[in-house]
Amino acid sequence: MKKIILFLSALAVSSLALAQVKVSVRETAQDQPVIPAEIYGQFSEHLGRCIYEGIWVGPDSSIPNVDGYRTDVLEAFKALKVPVLRWPGGCFADEYHWMDGIGPKENRPKLVNNNWGSTVEDNSFGTHEFLNLCEMLGIEPYISGNVGSGTVEELAKWVEYMTAENGSMAELRAKNGRKEPWKVKYLGVGNETWGCGGDMTADYYADVYKRYALYSRNYSGNRLFKVACGASDYDYNWTRTMMQKDRDKMDGLSLHYYTCKGWTGSKGSATDFTPEEYYNVLAKSVEIDEVLRNHEAIMDAFDPDKRVALLLDEWGTWFDVEPGYNPGHLFQQNTMRDAMVAALSLNIFQKHTERLKMANIAQIVNVLQAMILTKGPQMVLTPTYHVFRMFNVHQNATYVPSEYNCGTLVSAEGRVMENFSACASRDAAGALHVSLANPSLDKPVTVELAFDQLKPKTVSGEILTASDVHAYNDFGKAPAVAPAAFSGAKVSGKTVKLTLPAASVVVLEVK
Ligand code: AHR
Repeated sequence: MKKIILFLSALAVSSLALAQVKVSVRETAQDQPVIPAEIYGQFSEHLGRCIYEGIWVGPDSSIPNVDGYRTDVLEAFKALKVPVLRWPGGCFADEYHWMDGIGPKENRPKLVNNNWGSTVEDNSFGTHEFLNLCEMLGIEPYISGNVGSGTVEELAKWVEYMTAENGSMAELRAKNGRKEPWKVKYLGVGNETWGCGGDMTADYYADVYKRYALYSRNYSGNRLFKVACGASDYDYNWTRTMMQKDRDKMDGLSLHYYTCKGWTGSKGSATDFTPEEYYNVLAKSVEIDEVLRNHEAIMDAFDPDKRVALLLDEWGTWFDVEPGYNPGHLFQQNTMRDAMVAALSLNIFQKHTERLKMANIAQIVNVLQAMILTKGPQMVLTPTYHVFRMFNVHQNATYVPSEYNCGTLVSAEGRVMENFSACASRDAAGALHVSLANPSLDKPVTVELAFDQLKPKTVSGEILTASDVHAYNDFGKAPAVAPAAFSGAKVSGKTVKLTLPAASVVVLEVK
């Protein structure tokens, strides 16, 4: 993989100027993995205005909608090519009782959303509303089952209700308007079972997992991909215990990693930050590279054939809630800094796909590092959305290794990060895509892409940048951060040359 030569010495919080970098693109490398589209996965939770107002407004809403789903958000999902959507939580999942969310809406019980601001949940968005959404958009559903406060029977019956052709659960489903079973691939057996999902030890959960997984059956040709709840961040013991005890019983093991300053006290503002805070956030986000490597090494020891997938099914930035919003609703704005976190993270994930098969950013609308923000009938696409949309050319493409020698910078918190990022892939139509990011706040970088075989004829691209990294897209205003065509890349023999402006993200298509 990438060879890193630290040719510049590290200075505290300094952007070490990287004047130029040569990226050797090894398109002749054999047997490279396909980048799973699921790396671009999303997460929807009954939290704040993610589901209600964000996705679902109901068919009687004055906000334009298709069968209750807001039209503008549906269109944005389509352009994003959302491959997989996790639901209904998060912490919410472990207090969610699916039977409350089926049948006539007026009969559905109301529950207090204890995790998220004590909002009253009326269950008007339930299993049918979620699975129909996925089906309509061709999204793979990822159901997060209730292990914390739900029974084995409840989860078993939910799987049957969703996927069985016959039997009384199928009859109940038909009575509720849906004759055919849905296809459901991913089943999460609990969420954060070390915390909000049951406060268990790894050893205890490893036993609990087996019971819930055993009775979650495959019906009518549906094949479940069972995901055991994994570790948070640096909890390598959790991964070790799960692999030791349950590796033969699971298809995947999850991991959560947030770019968050700390779980107590201020998490910092999403929009108002110093250069020091900018680099702190970026350096923390790219530490996921090392965290993934460490979890993967443990998994490799138990599963050298890499049968069990690693799923990073929650990740992203977590800042203070925007002033004036319910503190339990985790609504935060999204700047060019978030776009940079997204670009650096996706480039990292794409280098881990021999084990990492899915990643789900938290959350798709109105919560944490969201793709989309809404306010009544208004909607904005965030800088993070644009990165996901620009990078989706990598979905299902073959990974192409690239090597480059770049420098590092050291954040005020003492984390070392590379000051440049690149990743390449070749799609089924033969086009080569290279995603590049320059995190420096003040220094452009000149890039030379050198191909070991390709003699490029054309190069085109898109750039995402802003005059100020604090820029964000706000309601009722012209977008401050939007992608633009990039014509600055030039073919020169077997190379492509370009200059990446400071704090910019570029995706090139080379043919
Ligand atoms: O994404 C917000 C919360 O973060 C999720 O509900 C939970 O799983 C995690 O702690």
